[in-house]
Amino acid sequence: MADPVETDTPQDRPQGPLLFQLSDIHFGLEDNTALDWVAAEIAARKPDAVMITGDLTMRARHSEFAAAREWIERAILAHNVPVTLEVGNHDMPYFNPIERFFAPYKRFKGLEALVERPLGLPGMAIIPLKTAVRAQPRLNWSKGWVTDRALQECLSLLDAVPDTARRLVAVHHPLREVGTHGTALTKNGEKALAELAKRNITAVLSGHVHDAFDITEDTPNGPVRMIGAGTLSQRVRSTPPSFNELTFRDGELHVSVRNLEAVASDDMMIGSVPENALPPRQPGEPVAPVGHVPRTDPPVH
Ligand SMILES: [Fe+2]
Repeated sequence: MADPVETDTPQDRPQGPLLFQLSDIHFGLEDNTALDWVAAEIAARKPDAVMITGDLTMRARHSEFAAAREWIERAILAHNVPVTLEVGNHDMPYFNPIERFFAPYKRFKGLEALVERPLGLPGMAIIPLKTAVRAQPRLNWSKGWVTDRALQECLSLLDAVPDTARRLVAVHHPLREVGTHGTALTKNGEKALAELAKRNITAVLSGHVHDAFDITEDTPNGPVRMIGAGTLSQRVRSTPPSFNELTFRDGELHVSVRNLEAVASDDMMIGSVPENALPPRQPGEPVAPVGHVPRTDPPVH
């Protein structure tokens, strides 16, 4: 079989850092063809950093974390590429509420040093903001919640970054209070976004919804750019598996939605933020122009 062809040609080595944003790999239901390709891209192009914006596993099973660790070590760390790993709602021990509450990150064994890790690059800082919490006073724990403590930790780190450096913030859940159907998405998301708007953020990078986007959101303190990455799992929503390649041209951040199916970036992006990663089944739900919607819903466990 011939190698897949891409039309969305990656840029030559850009001015400024080359960053790869991977998201929602969901080991346990990962897309191995896509992951082999991403590993080859990292080996060939050696990005300055990789951000993995949450949902590394399906259900935080030990076997899933072991597979994740093996891939991250082989595909990224072996090339001395720095990584930050944000925690997603699927990365909490779902079947064990006691462990979930008292030792939520125990299963990241071997990856702990990468979790919610700030990265410093020449002229740039990538700062995590935690949106997945171990417990919350509502039934659906898959939703995001920015606690005051998590926000303060993020803002303190941002305030310590030199004025001349760019700032990117990495999260799992998009910082929207409500999704396209008016249901809750990320509690305190708007408050967090308004605080970030005061701090000259280049963009907030998120995952969770399994389709890519590049949206500018207004806040009382000014606009903030929100960039979402798609999934590298079999749990597709309306686009084939993808990752975001971030480059800088003439000082502007450019997003290329890299994929194996010859789809241009603009056709890979949704125009608004849905409340979850389930395929769009109702009128009005955002669908990327490529319209790669699975006929049946992918498994959620
Ligand atoms: Fe996910």
